[in-house]
Amino acid sequence: MDFAERYGPWAVVAGASEGVGAAVARQLGERGVDVVLVSRRQETLDEVAATVPSRTRTIALDLSTADAASALAEATADLDVGLLVYNAGADPNAALFLDRPVEVWQGLLARNCATVVGLTHHFGGLLAARGSGGMVLVSSGAAWGGGSHLAVYSATKAFDLRLAESLWAELGPRGVHVLGMVLGETDTPAYRRILAGREREGLADPEDVARDMLANLGEGPTFPPDGTPFGALPRRQVVELMSQGASMLHS
Ligand SMILES: NC(=O)c1ccc[n+]([C@@H]2O[C@H](COP(=O)([O-])OP(=O)(O)OC[C@H]3O[C@@H](n4cnc5c(N)ncnc54)[C@H](OP(=O)(O)O)[C@@H]3O)[C@@H](O)[C@H]2O)c1
Repeated sequence: MDFAERYGPWAVVAGASEGVGAAVARQLGERGVDVVLVSRRQETLDEVAATVPSRTRTIALDLSTADAASALAEATADLDVGLLVYNAGADPNAALFLDRPVEVWQGLLARNCATVVGLTHHFGGLLAARGSGGMVLVSSGAAWGGGSHLAVYSATKAFDLRLAESLWAELGPRGVHVLGMVLGETDTPAYRRILAGREREGLADPEDVARDMLANLGEGPTFPPDGTPFGALPRRQVVELMSQGASMLHS
């Protein structure tokens, strides 16, 4: 099976209007897969869709709402979807837990966990029935440990990583490739907004991240394949290191 046969004819990219999601959408188009692009801003979706060299459908949808998964399932019901890439997930707040109303964190939880469960259950069922395809859940180095300014974000990213690993184990034997894609700091518009003008060296290029993702769809459960960079460090040290890392965003 070639790439488009296995992961096409359609892919759904949730969080496709910029950064890694936009790069994934374009690269899927270059590989002959048609793309459903999902995010909140219709105008930005249209701009990205115009750069995708295959058929596209744009869906403006807030993935943090309670009915987001069922709305997306309905909006793609007429398509043969072979790949789900769930990319939306950054925390635009980068704030202390008690410095935001609980509704903000509940929205993050809904987008990064509840909607992901809804969509992986929906598309996972369809993919298992056809016996081919894939699902990618984008996680983060924040999944490796909690820390100050990371409470809900790191918890949701650990959730996504564990979900991807478990679905890899359950759905792999049924022909479905599942990948937990662990990103480090990446030069996306959303991350630039968090950096707010601060300089930062060594950011990954979203095009390279997208290329790594699509080249490793069948190499799960995770990319990179290595374990946590913290090895056997005591948890207190891990949390202190994570807190130091996050604190540079607030200096
Ligand atoms: N950038 C990094 O340094 C970094 C590091 C580690 C992990 N990651 C992970 O990589 C992924 C992409 O991150 P990113 O930096 O590109 O930021 P992001 O805020 O997750 O943005 C990615 C896309 O998601 C869409 N999106 C955000 N919230 C949404 C919502 N509620 N409903 C629908 N669409 C939504 C955005 O478009 P709209 O604004 O138009 O909705 C955008 O197209 C995330 O899962 C993040 O956790 C990023």
